[in-house]
Amino acid sequence: MKEWYDKINNTRSVGSLEKIRIAVFGKKGILAEKFAQMKTAKNDEKAQIAKELNTYKSSLMNEYVAKKITLQTLELQAAMQAESIDVSLHSSKSQTGALHPVMETMDRIVEYFASMNFAVKTGNMIEDDFNNFEALNLPKYHPARDMQDTFYFKDEMLLRTHTSPVQIRTMMSTKPPIRMIAPGAVFRRDYDLTHTPMFHQVEGLLVEEEGKVSFANLKYILEDFLKYMFGDIEVRFRPSFFPFTEPSAEVDISCVFCSGKGCRICSKTGWLEVLGCGIVDQNVFEAVKYKNVSGYAFGLGVERFAMLIHQIGDLRSLFEGDIKLLEQFQ
Ligand code: DAH
Repeated sequence: MKEWYDKINNTRSVGSLEKIRIAVFGKKGILAEKFAQMKTAKNDEKAQIAKELNTYKSSLMNEYVAKKITLQTLELQAAMQAESIDVSLHSSKSQTGALHPVMETMDRIVEYFASMNFAVKTGNMIEDDFNNFEALNLPKYHPARDMQDTFYFKDEMLLRTHTSPVQIRTMMSTKPPIRMIAPGAVFRRDYDLTHTPMFHQVEGLLVEEEGKVSFANLKYILEDFLKYMFGDIEVRFRPSFFPFTEPSAEVDISCVFCSGKGCRICSKTGWLEVLGCGIVDQNVFEAVKYKNVSGYAFGLGVERFAMLIHQIGDLRSLFEGDIKLLEQFQ
């Protein structure tokens, strides 16, 4: 009988232990056989034999269970070691994220003006009539309000149509001098190839003592800024109109697609409009109760910059979240 103890003990795998279990405890196993033989024994010996067989059976069972646990543990350990994963290895499919081209462009714009000591302000996306229009020299029923299709809320509040109200908020809460830019989202009721209901602008404002700011200062910084953004380009200023500046100008750069020769994108003019700017209108200073100051302001659309830098044709593609498109700008 001892041979079965030894067999159990010498087994090396769960598989061969299972064969032993069947041979010993199975329906046709040796224990079943021994119990069957008992029937032919003398009646006065039967009880004694049964007792011995049962003791033997339970001690063999203990041996078997203990061995099974040991073998299973060992096999699990071996499997875990064999299948261990090296977490420091790169997966061939890992994807790296990247900034959205609009955010990347915005960061570059902010970087330039921060290096020129302009503070970065954010303001509110939900604005009131005073900050978005009135204080910017756009009184009620002024025709220039039509330039901006506004989203209104019920209670006279609105989604800001430009970042210019951040000028007002900053002047209302700070004394001059001021040098600030305001990057952020703005909203208009517009949707086509070159317009989306939400887009981004950067507003700029500089205020100094009266007589210390001239159009030449404005022209210098914007030219320098545009060359920083677009590289080797020509810049020109065209007289224009904005209610909050007087005089006002629109700024063009030589077409980045055809180097100014004239193409479909610049409508054969060789020029692309990129900015609005001007000398702050005295009515704006009056609205915020500033006296004896002068200043310049400018505003630009970040998506337009991103589209010109990356040569993107359809503005809407920037907002569709198409990974295939966005991946090209990494
Ligand atoms: N707020 C103008 C717009 O949304 C942009 C602008 C033009 C801002 C001229 C200015 C400026 O500060 O001087 O179209």
